[in-house]
Amino acid sequence: MKILTVIGARPQFIKAATVSRVIDTMDNVTEVIVHTGQHFDANMSDIFFEQMEIPKPDYNLEISSLSHGAMTGRQLEAIERVLLEEKPDWVIVYGDTNSTLAGALAASKLHIKVAHVEAGLRSFNMKMPEEQNRIVTDRLSTILFCPTQTALDNLNNEGYTNLDIETVVSGDVMYDAALFYKQFSSMPEQLNNLDLSNGFVLSTIHRAENTDDPARLSELVDSLNELHKSTPVVMPLHPRTKKKLSDLGLTLNIHLIDPVGYLEMVYLLDNCSFVASDSGGVQKEAYFFGKQCLILRDETEWVELVKCGSNKIVGANKQLILEEASKISCNSKFNEKFYGDGKSAEGIVNSLIEFVNV
Ligand code: UD1
Ligand code: UDP
Repeated sequence: MKILTVIGARPQFIKAATVSRVIDTMDNVTEVIVHTGQHFDANMSDIFFEQMEIPKPDYNLEISSLSHGAMTGRQLEAIERVLLEEKPDWVIVYGDTNSTLAGALAASKLHIKVAHVEAGLRSFNMKMPEEQNRIVTDRLSTILFCPTQTALDNLNNEGYTNLDIETVVSGDVMYDAALFYKQFSSMPEQLNNLDLSNGFVLSTIHRAENTDDPARLSELVDSLNELHKSTPVVMPLHPRTKKKLSDLGLTLNIHLIDPVGYLEMVYLLDNCSFVASDSGGVQKEAYFFGKQCLILRDETEWVELVKCGSNKIVGANKQLILEEASKISCNSKFNEKFYGDGKSAEGIVNSLIEFVNV
């Protein structure tokens, strides 16, 4: 069986690493990796392939830094060419980026089976590019691997029970990754000269809804600068956010560091006091590492973590951010298996074998 994996953005390398590791152990399954090139800086791309031992991509399409339509369109065209050449049994796409949509659309139009990992998530905010990408990708797929029961419920509410699409609650491959790579975690060298012995807040910001709205970005900057006066804030700065801060002349007076590899990120998650982030992945990883998270958005797809009290939605509201930060006294206890047993990737590959001839 031949699987063709389409990836392009940082969180997809991390998710795909877990599935590639499983495929690598199987004699009868081969993988072709297509990197769309969406993320391309060494610390946004290469570092993950090296640290997580992901096989080198067979193709790098080098398509990045374009508007949504142009990026998705050019990726679609280039992926189609690869699919015609490679003729895989399955195309796997991950998450909700433009690379996800382009991969699913290219495969579906060629009647190649599509597996969507991290299916069924919904923010119910149709203005988010990710919401648009994931809804279309789900609908074009042959099999949907839902990380949570909530994700499956979302699909059922949209009528997926009446469609000819397999749905599976697979657990979350990001939990597999956190469990496996934790043993290799390492402190970022960029922190060598900092004294963080009294704790620190780990923060990341990159969502379009924050970076592309000057008022929101400015309020987030104010909030983090204020928070930093009481607890040091460490932020690996996403290139998108770096550019927007510079364009708007905004200054973050916190410990800014360059984006780090996954092994360093795991160290930060494991050692921080709490997390403040608009990232989909990071808000969940906070929970994996027993940390509470302030979600710097107005809604989240990972609603179970808000319901259980581990995470709080605080938007870009300075007063709320500071108030909720001051209330965090103890860490969350990881005591519910919302995200599977850490063996989601194995289940996913076995399902692909089971359904290859269906
Ligand atoms: C993308 C995804 C988002 C995901 C995020 C993960 C879409 C629509 N968005 O957002 O869902 O959460 O990745 O991080 O697919 N840039 C660099 N170097 C890089 C990567 C990006 O300079 O290595 C710059 C690009 O030139 C661009 C900007 O950052 O100007 C944004 O990159 P892009 O891939 O369009 O979107 P992200 O914000 O990274
Ligand atoms: N991450 C990382 N280095 C960083 C910032 C994030 O390895 O400097 C990891 C993080 O641990 C998570 C993933 O990247 O596994 C999340 O990616 P991102 O926040 O860019 O995207 P999202 O999850 O919001 O789509």
